[in-house]
Amino acid sequence: MADFSSKVVYQIYPKSFMDSNGDGLGDLKGIIQKLDYLKNLGVDYLWLTPVFVSPQNDNGYDVADYRSIDPRFGTMADMEELIREADQRGMGLMLDMVFNHTSTEHEWFQKALAGEEKYQNYYIFREGTPDKLPTNWQSKFGGPAWEYVPSLGKWYLHLFDVTQADLNWDNPEVRDELKKVILYWKEKGVKGFRFDVVNLISKPERFEDDYEGDGRRFYTDGPHVHEYLKELTRDTGIDDMITVGEMSSTTLENCIRYSAPEEKELSMCFSFHHLKVDYKDGDKWKLMEPDRMALKKLFEKWQTGMQEGHGWNALFWCNHDQPRTVSRFGDEKKYWKESAEMLAASIHLMRGTPYIFQGEELGMTNAHYTSISQYRDVESLNYYKILLDQGKTEKEALEILAARSRDNGRTPIQWTEGRNAGFTEGTPWLEVTANYRKINAEKQIGDSDSIYAFYKKLVALRKEKDVISRGSIDFLEKENPDVLAYKREYEENELIVLNNLTSGEVKIQADPAWAGYHKLLGNYEGVQNDGCITLRPFETVVLEK
Ligand code: GLC
Repeated sequence: MADFSSKVVYQIYPKSFMDSNGDGLGDLKGIIQKLDYLKNLGVDYLWLTPVFVSPQNDNGYDVADYRSIDPRFGTMADMEELIREADQRGMGLMLDMVFNHTSTEHEWFQKALAGEEKYQNYYIFREGTPDKLPTNWQSKFGGPAWEYVPSLGKWYLHLFDVTQADLNWDNPEVRDELKKVILYWKEKGVKGFRFDVVNLISKPERFEDDYEGDGRRFYTDGPHVHEYLKELTRDTGIDDMITVGEMSSTTLENCIRYSAPEEKELSMCFSFHHLKVDYKDGDKWKLMEPDRMALKKLFEKWQTGMQEGHGWNALFWCNHDQPRTVSRFGDEKKYWKESAEMLAASIHLMRGTPYIFQGEELGMTNAHYTSISQYRDVESLNYYKILLDQGKTEKEALEILAARSRDNGRTPIQWTEGRNAGFTEGTPWLEVTANYRKINAEKQIGDSDSIYAFYKKLVALRKEKDVISRGSIDFLEKENPDVLAYKREYEENELIVLNNLTSGEVKIQADPAWAGYHKLLGNYEGVQNDGCITLRPFETVVLEK
C-alpha cells in the first residue's frame, strides 16, 4: 500500500462548485475552469462526490448508472478532459463509489422489480405481507428501512432513502459487477476512490428486530466486511491508489483493520465520532453546545489508537453532510478568521491525511436559512416533518435545521462579490449564503493574510516537514477542556501545536524548553510566553524545535 501522509485532498461537491452554463447547477466544465485555483492551493487529489446518472433524490448518492455521467454535470468527454487537465497540474481525480446501494432506477433494480430472480438476488428482498415489516430497523433518513413491493409480495431493504436499495454483497455476482466499475474508471485515469458508507455493506445472516437501537448494530462493520474489502482491492489492483472509506458509527478496532497497510483494504478511513459532540443524547436533531472535553478525548483516542495499530486517519471537519465548522466550533461573527484558521491548523497538523471541503479554505459559514422552502436536502425535508410530528413548532424545527442541515455545507461556492457570488449566471439550485460580499475567493486569493493563504501554508508545510507527515503524536494539556494541544516528533524534529478552542483567553504552563523553540505558524502576532503561554481567543500557535 502506498503512503499518502504528505498529501492533501480537496473535496468538490460539483453541484455547488461552479456553473459553466447558467443552468444554476455546478458542472464538470465549471470545475475545469477552477483547476488553477485548486493548484494554487497546493492540493494533490480532488475527490468529486457522485456525478453519475442519477434521479438526484439524494444528490447523486442514488446512482442509476455507475458508468455514465449525468447530463446535468456534463458529458464523458468533459470527465476525460477534467482527468487530463487535473493530471497536467499534478492533481489526481478521486471518484465516489456508492456501493452500499443503488438507485431504484438502476437497471438491476428495475429488472428485479420486473420479476427477474437473478436481479432480486442483487438486492435484499424478503418475502412477506404488507402488514408485517421484516424487522423494525429505521432508515438513516427517517422512517422504516424496508419498503413493500405489492407486485412481488416482497420487502426490500433501504438503509437510506426508499429510492436507495441496499445491494446484496453476499452475492459474488454483485461483487464482480462492482469490481468492473472500479476497473472501468481506473482505465480512464482516475487516481483514487472514496467508498460511500462502505462499512455497512455486509449484512448479517439473520435479520432480527433491534430493541436497543435503530438496527445499526447488526449491519455496521458487518460479518464479512473486511473479507469483501480485501477481495475488492486485490481483484481491482487498487492497493497503490488512494482509497478512503466512509465509516458510519464504526469502531477504532475496525478502522485499524480497514486502514493498516498490511491488511490491504483501504488507505484511510473517515470516522465521525468527533462530529457528534454537539448531539444531545447522541441525537443529531437535538441541539447542544459542543462538548469540548469529549472532542479532545475523541481526537486523542483516534490519533493515538490509529498510531498504535498502524491505521491511518482521514482528517476533516467538513464535508457535504456536515454544517460548516466555523459556524459550529468557531465563532463566525466576532472571531471568524481566527477561529477558521485555528480549526484548520488543529487538524492539518495531526497524523493522517487532511481533507479540505470546498469553501472551507475561505471560511464559508452555515447558510442561515429561515424558511423550509430554502432547503433541498432529502434528509432535512424528512426530518422537518418528523420534528413537527414530534410536536416542535415551525420556528423550533427551523432552528434545528439551521444548525444541522446538510444544506449548510452545500451552498454555492462564494467566488466573487458579484451576482450569485459568481457561481452561476442563472438561478442557483440552492440559495447562496447572504455573506458572500464579505466572504469570497476573489477577496482572499491575493491577500497573504487571508484564511485561504493560511490553508495554503498548511498544505505546503505538510510537504516540507516530515515531522507533520510522518511524525508520532502525543497529546498535551489532556485535562484542559479549552486547549487542544499535541506534540509531533520525527527523528530530531519536534512540533508543539497549541489550539485555544474558546473565545476567551487561556493560560497554560509552558515547558521551559519551548522558550528556545521558534514559532512556525500562528494566527496572531508573536507568542505570549512569560513562563505561562497566554493563548488569545481561538489562537493557534505552532512551535518548532
Ligand atoms: C453518505 C454520503 C451521503 C449520502 C449517504 C447515502 O453518508 O456522504 O451524502 O446521503 O452516504 O449514500
